[in-house]
Parts: sequence; structure tokens; C-alpha cells
Amino acid sequence: MATEQQSSSATAEGGVATGSETLTVTDNRTGKTYELPINEGTIRGLDLRQIKVDESEFGMLAYDPAFTNTASCRSAITFIDGEAGILEHRGYSIEQLCERSTFLEVAYLLIFGELPTKQQLERWTFDITHHTFVHEDVKHFFDGFRYDAHPMGILLAGVGALSTFYPDAKHIDDEEERYMAAVRLIAKMPTLAAFSYRHNMGLPYVYPDNDLGFSENFLSMLFKKTEMKYEPDPRLARALDVLFILHADHEQNCSTNAVRGVGSSGVDPYSAVAAGVAALYGPLHGGANEAVLRMLRRIESPENIPDFLEGVKSREEKLMGFGHRVYKNYDPRARIIQQHMDEVFEATEYNPLVEIARELEKRALDDDYFTSRKLYPNVDFYSGIIYEALEIPTNMFTVIFAIPRTSGWVAQWMEMLDDPDTKIARPRQVYTGERDRDYVPIEQR
Ligand code: ACO
Repeated sequence: MATEQQSSSATAEGGVATGSETLTVTDNRTGKTYELPINEGTIRGLDLRQIKVDESEFGMLAYDPAFTNTASCRSAITFIDGEAGILEHRGYSIEQLCERSTFLEVAYLLIFGELPTKQQLERWTFDITHHTFVHEDVKHFFDGFRYDAHPMGILLAGVGALSTFYPDAKHIDDEEERYMAAVRLIAKMPTLAAFSYRHNMGLPYVYPDNDLGFSENFLSMLFKKTEMKYEPDPRLARALDVLFILHADHEQNCSTNAVRGVGSSGVDPYSAVAAGVAALYGPLHGGANEAVLRMLRRIESPENIPDFLEGVKSREEKLMGFGHRVYKNYDPRARIIQQHMDEVFEATEYNPLVEIARELEKRALDDDYFTSRKLYPNVDFYSGIIYEALEIPTNMFTVIFAIPRTSGWVAQWMEMLDDPDTKIARPRQVYTGERDRDYVPIEQR
């Protein structure tokens, strides 16, 4: 069969591939062969466009509805090796960060790419601490929500509203504006989250306390009652800080993709982050730990675990908190949470769900059904139990997830703005509808 060699190694951008770093594609409809450059293990989607049956055609597209095999960006923020169970931020392992760092330091690392010096960390901490207050009008805005409004819906609206309080944030190419937006978003998210909780509970709002650290202050804004000063148990504050580190970033997931996609329009960062909050609101993204708690309550006692697991194996049930699209090994975040559980339960009341969870994990990991499918505990298996031990109600779980994830969203948004490859996100479609129909007057339909 005659083949026609197309302009071999020109990339869509006119770059030239080196040697054998190419993919040869033969279009069996035409017999033509194309050589597509391979860079960093990928081909450019746009290089497929040259593949056509005749010149008038648009050219070939890749169909990938959930981006399951499409790299939407290049990123130097978070590395995941799902097979090996590795998670690193800017090259530092999540284990070391959780053991030796703090959430605010990790937020700095994500955004600026390096661990801060002592002075840089002091300034960063000072700036965040001194931007935790929200404008009084935001409070009045919150008052307009129904008493039973879901706190995540309130948070979503609150973050979006911030763009109207800081109109200069729309100057997204101004370094100082970007820095201030990063500071304000990270600083005000816990305040908005705590206000949404207090509104939902019918309790008065508690203002931030600048004497407290990031996690302590959040617990104070949630739980302070009539005492002059709220001082949380340091073990609980540290456990919360570790949970914040664990949830700070997880590369191109649904909400991060939303932030990048919306941010690519050039909108201000508050609006872009509001898109991330909206994506996180969905039960398939931020809601799994809530489902774990419901499952453990349903199991009720360790004796019922064998029956429950039989139900999972016969596909009547799902083992919530197990399995992950990327991790095909123990989710490193789950292991770290587990290490903090004992400390948390020393400081709080005993929770019988822990015993069920531990036994459930042990039995599942002893069972070939789960190990052969590479199903291991994920971050949500234990996080809900810790939140519950901290007396945080289940409808606040996703709200709490949004607090640390804001640092990841901001880091990803900034990286996107600085990437010369960035264009407004605009996927293609495969059109499957009607064409060329004549309008039918209503009386003839
Ligand atoms: N319980 C029982 N079986 C499971 C589970 C589970 N939790 N997860 C996957 N499986 C089985 C599937 O039925 C499938 O079996 P089969 O090959 O015999 O048909 C096999 O394992 C492979 O599963 P997939 O569905 O292909 O895995 P996928 O990567 O699409 O799904 C997901 C990942 C959605 C996380 C899934 O494991 C799940 O639903 N887990 C429970 C929900 C959960 O904990 N989500 C939180 C994830 S972490 C986070 O989002 C922060």
C-alpha cells in the first residue's frame, strides 16, 4: 500500500522533534502516515488536526470526555505516582511536610515554589493573620441566607462576593495584586467557613483572634462561646493543621481544573476560586468522607463487618473510602491521618466508629477481592472520623476541605497565568445533533 509521508516532525507550533521521539500514525482511511513529535511523554492534541480525509475537513480531534488521558497543562506544583503511592509538593514528600512543616508554610511552598526563609515565613504569617477579617458588609450579606442554608452554598456565594470588595484584583498581571489576592483568599477562607457554620447553627459570628495560629484561630471562630479567649487543645489544632496540609493540593482534579478553566478567561482570582468551591461541593469530589461516616454508622458494630464485606463483593454495597482513580496503592494521605488518630482520640471522647473503621480496613486488606483490584484506603477513610472527633458536623466537611485547597487553587491559578501556553480554555465537541432544518411555524408542529 502506498503511504504518503506528511511533513514529518513539525509540531503544531512549528517546533522540531528530535530523532526517534515521534509517534507514527497511519490513517487507514487514506493510507497516509503522519509522524507526531513526542515531548515529555505526550503528543500535542493539535498535531492530530493535520489528519484529514480531504482538505475541506476540520481535522481529527481526540475524544476524551472526562480528560482521563489528557494533560491539560504542564505543572511543577504537585507530583503523584499513583502506582507507588507517592505524593510530593514541589519535590518534598507529603510525609516530611506533615511531620515537619505547618499548613501556612506548605501554602507558601505551593505558591512560591520554595520553602520560605525565616523572614519570608514571618512576613507571610503576619500578612495572612492580618487579613483574616472580612468587611462587615460580608456579614450582613451572610445574614440574608435562610437559617438552614448549607454552609458550602454560603461559602460559595461568600467567596464570589469577595471579588466585589476587591475590584483591583481584576488586574491579574499586577504582581502586588496577585500577592494580595493570595493572602486574602487564604486568610479569609477560614473566616467565611466559620461564619457559614455559625449562621447554619444560629450562633453569633466570632471574629478572628490574631494571637492564635491559623488552625487554632479557625477552631476558635467555630467553637468560641462566652469564654474570653478560646484555647484549643494543641493536639487537636495540630491534627487539623496536618489535615490542612494533606488537602492543600492534589494536581489536576475536578475543582483545580475548574479554577484553571474559569481563570483562563482572565477573570479575577476570587471568581476563579469560587468556581473551585462549586466543583468541590459535588458529592463525587468533596463528599466521600461524609459517605464513609454513614457507612460506618450503618455497619454499627465490628461483628457486622463480614456480612458488610460480602455485600460489597456481591456489588450490593460500595466500600466507601477505599479505591482511588490515581492511587493504586495505599493513599499516602490515609497513612498519615491514621498516625494522628490516637493523639486526637486521647484529647476527645472515644468514638466507637474508629474501632469499626480499623477492623474494616484490616479485613479488607486481608481479602484478595480488594487487594487484587488495588483497593486501599484513601484520604477520606479516616478524615471524616477525625472531623467528627473535633465535633465538626458532617455538612461542614467539604467547607473545611475548601480552606486548605484554596492555597492549591491559588498556586495553580498563578502558574497558569505565567504559562506561555495558556489560552482561554475552550474544548471542542463531537456534534451529534440535527443540521439544516427549516423553521416550522408553531401552528404546524
Ligand atoms: N468498593 C468496592 N469496589 C470498588 C471500590 C469500592 N470503593 N472502588 C472500586 N471498586 C472496584 C470496581 O467495582 C471495579 O471492580 P471490577 O473490575 O470487578 O468491575 C474495580 O474496583 C476498579 O474500580 P474502578 O471503578 O475502575 O475505579 P475508578 O478509578 O474508576 O474509581 C473511585 C475510583 C471512584 C474513587 C472508586 O474507587 C470509589 O467509588 N471509591 C469509593 C468512593 C471514595 O472513597 N471516594 C473518595 C476518593 S478520594 C477523594 O476524592 C479525595
